[in-house]
Amino acid sequence: MFPVHRPRRLRSHPQLRRMVRETVLTTSDLIYPLFAVPGEAIAKEVKSMPGVFQLSVDKIVEEAKEVYDLGIPGIILFGIPADKDDDATGAWHDCGIVQKAATAVKEAVPDLIVIADTCLCEYTAHGHCGYLEVGDLTGRVLNDPTLELLKKTAVSQAKAGADIIAPSGMMDGFVQAVRQGLDAAGFQDTPIMSYAAKYASAYYGPFRDAADSTPQFGDRRTYQMDPGNAREALKEIELDIAEGADMLMVKPALSYMDIIWRVKEASNLPVAAYNVSGEYAMIKAAALNGWIDEQRVVLETLTSFKRAGADLILTYHAKDAARWLGA
Ligand code: PBG
Ligand code: ZN
Repeated sequence: MFPVHRPRRLRSHPQLRRMVRETVLTTSDLIYPLFAVPGEAIAKEVKSMPGVFQLSVDKIVEEAKEVYDLGIPGIILFGIPADKDDDATGAWHDCGIVQKAATAVKEAVPDLIVIADTCLCEYTAHGHCGYLEVGDLTGRVLNDPTLELLKKTAVSQAKAGADIIAPSGMMDGFVQAVRQGLDAAGFQDTPIMSYAAKYASAYYGPFRDAADSTPQFGDRRTYQMDPGNAREALKEIELDIAEGADMLMVKPALSYMDIIWRVKEASNLPVAAYNVSGEYAMIKAAALNGWIDEQRVVLETLTSFKRAGADLILTYHAKDAARWLGA
C-alpha cells in the first residue's frame, strides 16, 4: 500500500524533468539596463556593481549590438547628465543624454527595443524625482507641476526613438499625463511600461552609485511605496491600468515575489519584474568570493521571477544569462 504516490518518479531522469518542467526561462524574457554618460570612449565600472559600466554613447551602441546578437530583445536606458538643475533640464532636453543614446542605438540596431526610463532624479540637483517647494529639505515632491516635466521628458524620449516609455517616478497621475503627452505629439502607438508598484527600497543603493541619483537630503518615502503594503500595490496597478498602462512593473523583485504574483492574478497585462541593483550586487559579491555558484544562482533566481508571474525581467544579469541559456 505505502506509498501509492511517488512524486520522485517524474524526477528520475533529466529528460523527464525537462518534460514536466512548468516554468522555462528564455532569453526572450530579458531586458538589459544601460547607463549613458556624456563623452566618448568611456566605460567606467560601477564600484558596487561589478560587470556594470557607465558608458558613453559610442560604447552604448557597441553594447547594444552585443545585446542584440545575444538574442536579448530590449534594453532600458538611464542617463547621467553633464549638468543637474532644479528643472531637470537634462531629462527633457532634445539633446539630453538618453535622447542621444536612444537615437544612436536605433540607428545602429533598429530591431533592438529601446525602453526609456522616465524620471527626473538623475537630472535634478537635489536628486529627488521632481520639483520641490523652495526651501524643502524633506523631499516631498510637488506632484502636479512635476507631471508637466515628466510629460515633456516622455515626448522627447519618444521623438528620439524610444520604443517604450517607462514612467518610474511614482507620481500620481503619471501614466495618464504621459499618455496624453504622447498622444498629443503623435505617439499614439508608443506603449507605456509603468513602474506601477515601486517600493521605497534599500535595494536601490548600488543603482544610485551607477546613476548618480542619491537624494541630497530626505528620502523617497513620500512617493515610493511602503515595503509593508501589498493591497496598495493592487490600488496602484488598478489606477495605472485605468490611466492607460500597456505593461506593469513590480520593483524590486526578490523581496516582492508575492506582489508579482498578485499583480499577475489581478490583471491581464504583461508583468515585468525589476531585478534591481542591490539584488545583483549581493549575488555578485557572493560569487566573486567563491561562496555561491553564480550561474546556478542567477538562473534559479530569474526562473523564480517567471514562476511568480513575471513575463519580463529587467536584470543586470541579462547578458550572462543569455550566454548560459545559449540564445
Ligand atoms: C529612478 C529609478 C531607480 C531605479 C530605477 N529607476 C532608483 C530610485 O528610485 O532611486 C532603481 C533600479 C535599481 O536599483 O536597479 N527613479
Ligand atoms: Zn526617480
